Amino acid sequence: MIAVFLYLNTSAQKFDQLAKTPPMGWNSWNKFGCNVSEKLLVQMADNMVSSGMLNAGYQYIVIDDCWQVGRDSTGEIVVDKDRFPHGMKYLADYIHSKGLKFGIYSCAGTKTCAGRPGGFGHEYQDARTYAGWGVDYLKYDWCNTSTQDAKSTYANVRDALHAAGRPILLSICEGGISKPWEWAKEVGHLWRTTPDIKDRWDAMIAILDKQKDLAAYAGPGYWNDPDMLEVGNGGMTSEEYKTHFSLWCMLAAPLIAGNDLMDMSPEIAEILKNREVIALDQDTLGKQGYCFRDNGDYEIWIKKLANNEKAVCLLNHSDEEKEVQVDFNVLIKSSDDYWSQDTYKLADYKVRDLWEHKEMKLDKGSISIKMPHHSVKVFRFIKK
Ligand code: GLA
Repeated sequence: MIAVFLYLNTSAQKFDQLAKTPPMGWNSWNKFGCNVSEKLLVQMADNMVSSGMLNAGYQYIVIDDCWQVGRDSTGEIVVDKDRFPHGMKYLADYIHSKGLKFGIYSCAGTKTCAGRPGGFGHEYQDARTYAGWGVDYLKYDWCNTSTQDAKSTYANVRDALHAAGRPILLSICEGGISKPWEWAKEVGHLWRTTPDIKDRWDAMIAILDKQKDLAAYAGPGYWNDPDMLEVGNGGMTSEEYKTHFSLWCMLAAPLIAGNDLMDMSPEIAEILKNREVIALDQDTLGKQGYCFRDNGDYEIWIKKLANNEKAVCLLNHSDEEKEVQVDFNVLIKSSDDYWSQDTYKLADYKVRDLWEHKEMKLDKGSISIKMPHHSVKVFRFIKK
């Protein structure tokens, strides 16, 4: 009996204390694709600090696909020496010296999605290598996996990381095929719910639509991942990026920027560094927002926050300006339980506009708001 108990207690588990709030960082893929190098990563690390992104909460610098070129005779993964002349330990040390954390990418199949050597059959060996380099975050993809079972494959990676002994956050990138929200809580810290995001308004909104039934599956230490941010990559307007960012924060999504930090306009920096909106994402209650009203081209999203506070995001996703009537008396009582209402009273709260950075003056509690097309309004009910 005792032996069984001990065995269960020492069997592999994920590193529990990581990602109590959704992870924040930067990843190379959305902007740079396979064009990764030591030079680029060093520049991004430097700019993460100098642009104020680190101070706003962004921590991880993650190299996505294409850093690896083969395996040697002992099966060790071989780093592209032309692009990473000093190797990965050097880069990890550099990133750590800036007060940042270091992330890397691999894949459960024989090859990565870009055709580089995958992790299949090398899970324990790779985990030891990554731990030796000082990796803090591992994004693990799902291409070229043939008949593999997702849950046992990722559990094996978790066990390998556990055996290697370094706390490494596990980002499951399986695209939502096997409904990872149903099994991945014990395995990883976040899981992709959907296929790849694209830097287009309709693609971003299509991803949002698929998050509507998933709020119950996320919480501190385990998050739904609607994919990395496209904010600043050029395919949407600034208004649309504001919407994209606000919605990801309402979803308690991992905030992994994917733009060129060396070439960031003041407008884009203001979006990515809006601390009042980031605070919704990073709220310690760890509740994912839910869609409270869906009128087709107008939606209201609500996110419960610690200390009985609440965030509201109004979304005009039609192609025209809209005038909407908003009753804050109703919104403060809104509940994710269809059959009941919260007992909160508007009189106990201030209402703050998190993009205007100011308190609302509400005479009656109900106001009419003009919303440009593809825009949001984000409010926080703050306890008086
Ligand atoms: C998949 C992932 C992307 C990226 C690429 C790399 O498509 O979903 O986020 O990692 O692979 O090849």
